[in-house]
Amino acid sequence: MLVTTKEMLLDAQAGHYAVGAFNVESLEFVMAVIKAAEDKKSPVIMQTTPGTVKYANLDYFAAMCKVAADAASVPVAVHLDHGDGFDRCVQAMHAGYTSVMIDGSHVPFEDNVALTASVTKVAAPLGIPVEAELGKVGGKEDDGPAVEGENPYTDPDEAEEFVARTGCGSLAVGVGTAHGVYKGTPHIEQGVLKEIRSRLEIPLVLHGTSGVPDDQVAEAIRNGICKVNYATELRQAFTKGFMGYMADNPGCFDPKKPSRPGMQEIYDVVASHMDNLGSTDKA
Ligand code: 13P
Ligand code: ZN
Ligand code: NA
Repeated sequence: MLVTTKEMLLDAQAGHYAVGAFNVESLEFVMAVIKAAEDKKSPVIMQTTPGTVKYANLDYFAAMCKVAADAASVPVAVHLDHGDGFDRCVQAMHAGYTSVMIDGSHVPFEDNVALTASVTKVAAPLGIPVEAELGKVGGKEDDGPAVEGENPYTDPDEAEEFVARTGCGSLAVGVGTAHGVYKGTPHIEQGVLKEIRSRLEIPLVLHGTSGVPDDQVAEAIRNGICKVNYATELRQAFTKGFMGYMADNPGCFDPKKPSRPGMQEIYDVVASHMDNLGSTDKA
């Protein structure tokens, strides 16, 4: 069933687990993620970045995800990831997305407050929850390798003021993770996370989780993370399954054939993360 992220994340917060938010890039990703959610009896969030949305458009992704959600026995939310402006967020709401992120982390604090508040004002009467970001997650969400930032950590004082002034429903925090592939082993600053958690009531979101060891993710959930984003690992999984098939069957020209092992690889990644996040059997 299609739902918003609001109750899903509040349930996760109350139950001390997290819901996985998996970036979908095509029909195959949608089918693989939904199958894993069904088999694991887990709530799930399917999300798309602006880069993915621009590959087709918002309506294609909203429609695909809605078909999957309507047929599913588990709660499914469709979320705009890293919304890159007021207009994109409003367009996503109109297209049928049930949750949006406005990413103002690249602009100064006051501008981030104003931008985020402009989106929450439109979303509130529609009942659509808004995720915002304060502090920096390293790397680039749509492409490219992870890069080391300066001081990426979310300031707990700023976070308190930010949430009070914007009315955002959940907050993505900078606690040491980065988008894309890590060069070394990443390190989540659990102390920073605990301090932020102690100041805020709303669900906290972890970005850049591909490549973060499961034990660090589990500890972050104990310290207050309720939504965990995975993108790169799904891309790698699909490509591995697809390319593996093509290497063994170079004469194949039916894309459905290599896509099946691609979907199986995504399924395995998603199902295993659901167990680690604690969302298995929570639908
Ligand atoms: P990864 O690609 O590192 O999993 O990051 C995902 C993400 O944060 C999507 O918003
Ligand atoms: Zn992200
Ligand atoms: Na990452």
